[in-house]
Amino acid sequence: MASTSAPDLMDKIVSLCKRRGFIFQSSEIYGGLASTWDYGPIGVLLKNNVKQAWWRSVVQERDDMVGLDAAILMHPETWKASGHLDTFHDPLVDCKSCKQRFRADHLIEAIAKAHQKGESTAKLVRKGAESFPAELVERLAKGSIEELLKDPEAVRWALGHMVCPNCGSTELTEPRNFNLMFKTFMGPVEDSAAVVYLRPETAQGIFVNFKNAQTATRRKPPFGIAQIGKSFRNEITPGNFTFRTREFEQMEIEYFCPPAEANQWFESWVAARWKWYTDLGMNPERLRKRGQGPDELAHYSKGCYDIEYEFPFGWSELEGIANRTDYDLKRHAEFSGKDLTHFDEETRESYVPYVIEPSAGADRATLAFLVDSYAEEVDDKGETRVVLRLHPSLAPIKVAILPLSKKPELKGPAKALHEALRRRWFVEYDETGSIGKRYRRQDEIGTPYCVTIDFDSLNDHAVTVRERDSMTQVRLPIAELLPYLESKLTPQAPTLSPSVFQQPVAQAH
Ligand code: GAP
Repeated sequence: MASTSAPDLMDKIVSLCKRRGFIFQSSEIYGGLASTWDYGPIGVLLKNNVKQAWWRSVVQERDDMVGLDAAILMHPETWKASGHLDTFHDPLVDCKSCKQRFRADHLIEAIAKAHQKGESTAKLVRKGAESFPAELVERLAKGSIEELLKDPEAVRWALGHMVCPNCGSTELTEPRNFNLMFKTFMGPVEDSAAVVYLRPETAQGIFVNFKNAQTATRRKPPFGIAQIGKSFRNEITPGNFTFRTREFEQMEIEYFCPPAEANQWFESWVAARWKWYTDLGMNPERLRKRGQGPDELAHYSKGCYDIEYEFPFGWSELEGIANRTDYDLKRHAEFSGKDLTHFDEETRESYVPYVIEPSAGADRATLAFLVDSYAEEVDDKGETRVVLRLHPSLAPIKVAILPLSKKPELKGPAKALHEALRRRWFVEYDETGSIGKRYRRQDEIGTPYCVTIDFDSLNDHAVTVRERDSMTQVRLPIAELLPYLESKLTPQAPTLSPSVFQQPVAQAH
């Protein structure tokens, strides 16, 4: 395996994504739109597979979950009830000189980090104010940067002394709160009565449908609702490719349970979500769970674990799993005037369910699977092979059909094979270039199996199957090809036998 430094690795992945059709810059022919990305012909297959794998594990294969696809535009009262109108904002400062905008907390954090590491803060603060006052240094040594950011004294000092990191000007405005929700108008009149927001999370579409989904599917807590969909946030500092963008896709679950069971369901979801990533081949050494400290928790939250991945740009959040208590349902009940309590027929008691929320990003998961599967190998001739070792269920193309020659004798059967297999999976046909080059092209997009047809195939009716990771080859009679691929690509495929009639009642999920 060739070694690649972290920034290089990210550059290589971005370049592979463009070259092979995973991800393009949005509106590229117009110069692009900052931090906005389009999934190309291969990328859309990968991201769809990520979303399908999630949906399968949290809806299809569980007894206690149902799905939903709510609208992006919601009644504006939703955002009052959820707290997004009042609290979903970042503190921003403007540089009066170069007109750039910065997050005040990020500037303060940069100063504090430099202090912690003993680095110079000369470029971050005014001349003559190069160090924190002694008591702040002491406080920083004892506590975390997060605590310091909540300390009014530290914030006041930093705001009074920091300079624009872009042009060095000392002319910065006071921090102002900037709401991260995108605003637009519904209908032809652009006045305040017509304001609607692009949802900043899919979660609220689930909360407002709690009663509808429960009644329609005759459920009672514990049960959950899952949803995949676009969310929008006017992020001030998007970046790291598709990691933080202004338009992104979330995969969210709101799991409604009796309050007394909340802790148990919280633990169970943390374990289930961790297993999902590792079952799909993610390296557990690059994954970690991080419990949020009390100062990081939202005021309504009783606990939160982040599942983080070690990207080339550092450990970063893939998913948060939170115990949101009964906060959201109570707020929506209050603002809508509708009763969102649950009446338990057995205990004859009413309660507002607690909610456990595993909230993941489809784009972040896709990026993590790309990074995690990327490998470079140098062969004995010194040539480098780039291969995406994607789990078969995530691989965009499952099989490639490669005739050894373009001659009609081979092309005819190869096309017929392609025609047949693509009814089962996404299968590519490629006849251009040397066989070595064609294998490399498939390795780069993570295709698990290549099937070659050669002149011997015309006589022995057999084909050669080459496996991506080991590069080993097996020769198979054509009649055995489909069962062979089926067993490799869908090992979880069910088998049925009369023993089903002897099974005791299975435990739920
Ligand atoms: N309903 C809870 C919620 O939205 P969040 O931590 O703000 O929580 C959940 O977002 C997940 O959505 C994150 O863990 C991340 O995977 C994804 N996400 C959030 N903001 C994002 C952004 N700007 N770009 C890409 N993904 C984002």
